[in-house]
Amino acid sequence: MHRPVALSLSVKVILVCLVVSLANAVWMMWHAEEEMETAILDQVKHQVVMFIQGIAREIAQQSDPLATAQLNNLLQNRLQESRQDIHDFAVRKLYLYDRQGVVFAHTGPGEEGVKAMQGHYGEVIRKGEPFVAKEIEWLRDPQSGRRTAVVDAIVPVRLAGTVLAGLEAEIDLQETMAIIQQRDGRYEAAIAWMIGLHALLLAVLVSGLMYRLLVRHVHQYDQVTRAIGAGRLTSRITGSLPADELGRLGYAINDMAANIERLVQEQEEAYLQSLRSLMQALEAKDAYTAAHSARVSAFSVQLGRYIGLQEAELELLRKGALMHDLGKIGVKDRILNKPEPLTEEEYAEMQRHPQQTATIMRPLHRFKEFGEIAAWHHERWDGDGYPDRLRAEQIPLLARIVSIADTWDAMTGDRVYRKGMPPQRALAILEQERLSGQWDPHLLAKFITMIREKEALPAS
Ligand SMILES: [Fe+2]
Repeated sequence: MHRPVALSLSVKVILVCLVVSLANAVWMMWHAEEEMETAILDQVKHQVVMFIQGIAREIAQQSDPLATAQLNNLLQNRLQESRQDIHDFAVRKLYLYDRQGVVFAHTGPGEEGVKAMQGHYGEVIRKGEPFVAKEIEWLRDPQSGRRTAVVDAIVPVRLAGTVLAGLEAEIDLQETMAIIQQRDGRYEAAIAWMIGLHALLLAVLVSGLMYRLLVRHVHQYDQVTRAIGAGRLTSRITGSLPADELGRLGYAINDMAANIERLVQEQEEAYLQSLRSLMQALEAKDAYTAAHSARVSAFSVQLGRYIGLQEAELELLRKGALMHDLGKIGVKDRILNKPEPLTEEEYAEMQRHPQQTATIMRPLHRFKEFGEIAAWHHERWDGDGYPDRLRAEQIPLLARIVSIADTWDAMTGDRVYRKGMPPQRALAILEQERLSGQWDPHLLAKFITMIREKEALPAS
């Protein structure tokens, strides 16, 4: 049973490629953003170190050591300035502590205390080098309850020329990222567009490749196998086939079609041979019909060629005309060979021969024109013929041709009891009767011209 396919293979391939490419684009975006954030954070840490080194230098350059209140003011002023300036970072707090870890200046009240000097605070004092924490620390504001992600940056400070101390900055990561995202929004949008377009291009390219490698072959296989199934046995897979399973499938379909075609031809040939045997049987019982059929076949092919039929049609016409009266094998010998006029009953039996021929030829599915010639060669252009009273172009062309050739041979062919009339006289009668309604008038005009040319007879 044929199951309807909702989506064709090419649409499915395009959809899969699009989904895969978009998933890839989303992953790339996410990954790129993560990488970018790490890089930006590293840059921010570097900038914060530069910023607090500037403050440290300012403190160290004071000729007189500053009092705690002055240091507090200085730190607060620099923090305020940093917020007003265009920076890519947000510093939350600044602390200044001495070599024992005691905080003695800061940017806000309540920050006093002692730093544990055995950790990185002590390292900064001891080695005199800046330190930036890798770990993110989460702090909760006791008043607002807001959780803040911070990273510490600490630089050494020279106090009064000799005494080392440390200046620590807490970087507010959330606020920093918000600043950066606000500034880099357009940059991120451009990246997103670039990755999206890249994904689309990739989907188009992969779809094209899949179509070239897979879909177009499957599409052709589908069409050819359907055509073979519908009886068009000469259909074949054409074009270059790939050297893989798909290509082998194409060759296998062609081999299968060739075998089916050969088997059908053999079967038809065997059937045609049976028909020839029947014709021989008819010849034995009615010598006139056999000779008449051979002449009708020859005249039909001449007319067919004269009006420009193709070789395949001429071959059908030749065989079909040769066997057009085969059904007469079922007519009694007494009626068939009766020289006197037939009775009404005898005539009715005689009129059954076209249908009997058509019945014999029915198994030749591929040559249905055979059956049509046999069934309708006694139909008339005006619809008064038999057996189906077809009219004009309802009668197939090949049957119309055989009808004219049949009449011509009946007029000009010799019989046991009378001689055929000379062509010129037969032509004169046909010309007179051309519009009588028995034959296709245009086809008959062609036939008359053809015979005149062939017999070198002058036009009347
Ligand atoms: Fe006939």
